[in-house]
Amino acid sequence: MKSPTHPAHVTLRHRERFALSPERSEPRERRTLGTHRPVRVGVIGAGAWGPHVARTFAEETTSALVVLADLDEERLALAQRRFPGVRITTDYSTLFDMTLDAVAIATPPDTHHAIAKACLQQGLHCLVEKPLAMSVADARDLIDTAHAHGRKLMAGHTFEYDPAVLEVRRMVQERELGEVFYLDAVRTEIGRYQLGSDALWDLAPNDVSIANFVFDGTPERVTALAGSFSGRDRTVNDLVYLHLEYPGNRLANIRVSTLDPKETRTTTVVGDEKMVVYDDVSHLEKVRVYDRGARTGAPRDPRERSPASDRYGAISIPYLPPEEPLRVATRHFAECVAGNIEPRTDGLCGLRVVEVLEAAERSLASGGPVEIGVRASARS
Ligand SMILES: NC(=O)c1ccc[n+]([C@@H]2O[C@H](COP(=O)([O-])OP(=O)(O)OC[C@H]3O[C@@H](n4cnc5c(N)ncnc54)[C@H](O)[C@@H]3O)[C@@H](O)[C@H]2O)c1
Repeated sequence: MKSPTHPAHVTLRHRERFALSPERSEPRERRTLGTHRPVRVGVIGAGAWGPHVARTFAEETTSALVVLADLDEERLALAQRRFPGVRITTDYSTLFDMTLDAVAIATPPDTHHAIAKACLQQGLHCLVEKPLAMSVADARDLIDTAHAHGRKLMAGHTFEYDPAVLEVRRMVQERELGEVFYLDAVRTEIGRYQLGSDALWDLAPNDVSIANFVFDGTPERVTALAGSFSGRDRTVNDLVYLHLEYPGNRLANIRVSTLDPKETRTTTVVGDEKMVVYDDVSHLEKVRVYDRGARTGAPRDPRERSPASDRYGAISIPYLPPEEPLRVATRHFAECVAGNIEPRTDGLCGLRVVEVLEAAERSLASGGPVEIGVRASARS
């Protein structure tokens, strides 16, 4: 490992200079770094997602995009046309000599642990795309490494920064839906096969993070079913069903597929008073609240055999701030680095999602439900 030319004290000095208000509700202009220099960021991975991450860092006043790293020279050349003036490299370890404060890692999931660990050890704050790692042991190791080196570790759970998901969570937490029975999520598309990943590790992290966030907790039990249809050796799961049991008898059912004719990204939450549908594919009406439910109790007509009857009310579409979730997330990361604030989706938040995915793997192997629990030793 090369010795860094920007040892920890440099970043510490900046942290002191950049001290930001931790209040998240402040108007954006008051939360910017003012005349101080922005957080210097490198993005590792210039594939499908990395350039989006790079764009948001480049466009925000809180951060400066300094360098892009990728093994693929063609992708780097494309990225540099988009970001002229930004340095490019095929070797991410050269970032250690560029007086950066932080990196964002947008490489395939099975590379996250090794790259993030090396960067943390070199004193760089890390935003790691989802999933944080591909095992609980590796996710814990990243949390411990970040702690040992006094660096921020943020999981790239973009949907937890989506105003639509925040609104759904608010409705659940403030009991606007009444008593919540279940959450049902569907995320399907065709293709986008990634080496070392599958529908479980590529798509499901989004829905598990949304379910954990909306329910403000982690499931106690996971049951998974999967189907493997494409690929030469049929070891890659194209289709995965997850059944998650949260405390308080709340259920989350998740279906993810990379072999589906339609691109669907919906989350439905059903309560005893209202129901809400979040449709991420919709541009203007991402959240619809249905004043609908089932009336229980004695039937109005004694000839009715069912003790429940349908209740139909109005459908409402709440206003949502037109904010790009990724931009909110990367801005938050830069502010956490500058202001020494713990990211909202910190390493522990990332670990909680990995725990569910790992339990799902065990459930697929055993064919039955798997108990999980966040062990208290993990540091936040
Ligand atoms: N938060 C979100 O909404 C969101 C959306 C899409 C993807 N992602 C995540 O972003 C990550 C990347 O996804 P993608 O779709 O861009 O994948 P991709 O395969 O299109 O791109 C990955 C890039 O990483 C590069 N790479 C691999 N190993 C490297 C290394 N050691 N050093 C430098 N570069 C390396 C590859 O050459 C490739 O260009 C994944 O973790 C994925 O889950 C997140």
